[in-house]
Order: sequence, then structure tokens, then C-alpha cells
Amino acid sequence: MAPTASVPAVSGPPGLSRRPRPRRIIAVGGGKGGIGKSMVSANLGVALAQAGLNVLLVDADLGGANLHTCLGVGQPSATLSDFLRKNKAQLDEVIIPTGVPRLSLIAGAQDALDAANLKYAQKQKLLKTLMGASADYLILDLGAGTSFNTIDFFILADHGVLVVLPEPTSVENAYRFAKAAFFRRLQQVESQYGIEDIVESALTTREGSLRTLHDVLAQARRKDPASAERLERELASFRIRLVVNQARTDADLNVGAAVASAWKKFFGIEMDDLGAIRYDDEAWRSVRKRRPVLIERPDSPASTAIQRIAARLLALDGTTDPSSP
Ligand SMILES: Nc1ncnc2c1ncn2[C@@H]1O[C@H](COP(=O)(O)OP(=O)(O)OP(=O)(O)O)[C@@H](O)[C@H]1O
Ligand SMILES: [Mg+2]
Repeated sequence: MAPTASVPAVSGPPGLSRRPRPRRIIAVGGGKGGIGKSMVSANLGVALAQAGLNVLLVDADLGGANLHTCLGVGQPSATLSDFLRKNKAQLDEVIIPTGVPRLSLIAGAQDALDAANLKYAQKQKLLKTLMGASADYLILDLGAGTSFNTIDFFILADHGVLVVLPEPTSVENAYRFAKAAFFRRLQQVESQYGIEDIVESALTTREGSLRTLHDVLAQARRKDPASAERLERELASFRIRLVVNQARTDADLNVGAAVASAWKKFFGIEMDDLGAIRYDDEAWRSVRKRRPVLIERPDSPASTAIQRIAARLLALDGTTDPSSP
């Protein structure tokens, strides 16, 4: 279905390369609802598309799909439900244009119940198909929370972007989300490292503190130092990228760095602070207008912050134009 409003092509943000790149997956998650995951996903998609890359946005919020609305796409003609239910057997059949050049969308499943209860085999099929989709960047907009469906999409990504608000409750949720992601990762590799018993006992321990992941690593070290070292290297290669959204004060801008440093102190694992997006009236106004803020108000503080974040992600992939400042 055509977008409800046509979106003019806007020249790409400075500093982003226009060379085509090998495909990468970005997943945007967060422990809490309503913190800006869809706003960040949609606008990162616009920023990367404006940089000359082919981007496929996927609404993977299995319980509350609404990414199409952020992009001004009306009731989608085909959605993830059609693919999951095999009404449309090929992923291509559910990809719809957004009106932004090079940016297309797979709208979220509309029947929330079906999708939220995605069976393991369906999820594997979806993950595998998405990984084979042809685009330079795949961006997965995830639902709130730490369900296995959400976390499995997150840990599959090359860039797991964790959105956090500069508020204690959101920060707490972000740690919980990061911890859930690392434990899920641990479960996937536990047999390789012979730590099934350690992970199992950590998961069954009812403990609210963050210490459990640390304990797993410490116990693994005691059991087999060489294997634990490999495990730590493996975990270290999975770096969560933080985005602080709705920053209102200058101190808020440093929350990402503080969260990353506390995480490192506890677990010895790095997180990347991709930067902060200020609370910006233009951001919520654009959502109401069903237009990405990057198209509607490209010079607004939210837009420039998102462009900077997109440039950082490209730099991590070695995509920055070396001639740019
Ligand atoms: N930087 C910002 N400045 C001002 N308002 C913002 C900003 N980011 C997001 N918002 C507002 O927050 C609302 C929620 O954003 P969004 O829908 O992207 O959250 P979400 O995390 O995807 O929510 P859900 O968990 O329900 O999917 C938006 O409609 C917008 O009004
Ligand atoms: Mg959302």
C-alpha cells in the first residue's frame, strides 16, 4: 500500500558513505514500552537510506506492531502475519514501500496473539529468512520486554541497540534486558563450554541482583580457566550499543557512558555508548503527523542526533567516508 503522505527525497546527512555495504542487522530493543524504540528504528532507517544504503525495516514487535504508522504507511496490504501463516510464502511478497527512497518495510503482524506466541520452528524460519533478505541493512524494531522472542531477535543482530531513558526505572530495565540477552547467549553456547550446570543453577536462583552473570563467569573460571577465557572472549564480542533517548538535561547526555561503565565494572564486558537523543517536541509532533522526524524536521535536535548515531553505526562497520570530518 502506498504511504498516506509522499515523502520528499532529502540529501543524506554529512559524514555518511554512499558506498553499498555487505548486509548488517540492527535490532532495536529496550526493557520498557513507549521509550522510543520505533521512533529510533524508523529514523535510523531513514538516515541509512538517505546515506545511499538499501534498508529493510521489519516490525518485529510481535504484540503491538505500529512501525508502519511512524512511517505514514496506511493499513499495510501485507504483513508478517501473511508470511508466518504462509498466505504469502516468500518474504518479498510482504515487503512494502515507505515512500522514502531505498527504505522498505515489513509491517508487523496484526493478529497479536498469534504472533506473540510464535512457535520455535516459526521463529527459526523467520530468523533464517530475514538473515537472507537482500538489503544493506535490516533493522528490527522489537517489542518491549525480555521475552525469548524479543531477545532471540536481539542477539542475532550485528548491532543490538538498547534504547534507555535517563530515568532509574528505565536504566534498571536496561540492565535487566542486557542480562537477559547475555544469559540467552550463554544458554546457546553452554554445551560448548561445559557450563550447563553453572548456567542452570544461576537461572534457577531467585536473585534480583545483577551479580549472577558475574558469578557464572567466576564459576566458569574456577572450573576450567582456559575454556572460561574463550567464553569471555565470545561474550565480549557481543557488545550492546546504548542509545539514551529523551535526554532533558546535560547530565542526561552522560547516562549512556555511566550505564556502560557500571556494566563493565560488574561484568568486565564493554557496552558501546552510541549517543543520546534529546527530548524534542519535533519528535513527538512528527509521530502525530505520522512522518519520520528526519524527513519532517531534518535539522531538529532529534534528527541530528539520530544522524550521528547512524554515522557511528556505519563507522563501526567500517563505512565512514574517510574524507569526511
Ligand atoms: N526524543 C524524543 N523526544 C520527544 N518525544 C519522543 C522522543 N522519542 C520518542 N518520543 C515520544 O514517545 C512516544 C513513544 O515512542 P515509540 O512509539 O517509538 O516507543 P516504543 O518504545 O516503540 O513503544 P512500544 O514499546 O509501545 O512499541 C512517541 O510517540 C513520541 O511521542
Ligand atoms: Mg514500538
